[in-house]
Amino acid sequence: SPERTLAMIKPDAMKAGKAGEIIEKIEAAGFVVVASKEHSLTNAQAAEFYAEHEGKSFFNELINFMTSGPVTALLLEKPGAIKGWRALMGPTNTAKAREEAPDSLRALFGTDGTMNATHGSDSFISAAREGAFWFPGALVQERTLAM
Ligand code: CMP
Repeated sequence: SPERTLAMIKPDAMKAGKAGEIIEKIEAAGFVVVASKEHSLTNAQAAEFYAEHEGKSFFNELINFMTSGPVTALLLEKPGAIKGWRALMGPTNTAKAREEAPDSLRALFGTDGTMNATHGSDSFISAAREGAFWFPGALVQERTLAM
């Protein structure tokens, strides 16, 4: 059954003009773009979105990066969308992605460990929270109705 996940195209890829190419690859991989929104996050919004990383060594750098320009948030649907989207993105660190998954989006469009082109929810719970953050009122997971 279809599953939904929350994706973002981050400011590095947006500034490089790669959003269109990334969305083409997303659709070619069989995902349906259910909703999309381009927005420049405020500091407070970025800190809320990444609350689970507060206190980590990379948190301030992450917030500075994520507020450096517009991002595109996407609600993606496909069977197994959460794991499937993370596989299409590749490893978090761009250098690792280039070694281990050279065709992945982060290998192709990322910059370094922080500026890594895309984000994806890491679990069903994260997808529900992050989906509601970007698309309030959207039904993030149809299958919650059947649970
Ligand atoms: P993302 O998948 O959006 O989740 C957290 C983000 O923090 C990550 O991608 C990177 O942009 C950034 N980041 C920077 N350093 C690290 C690190 N050491 N581990 C995980 N994420 C990091």
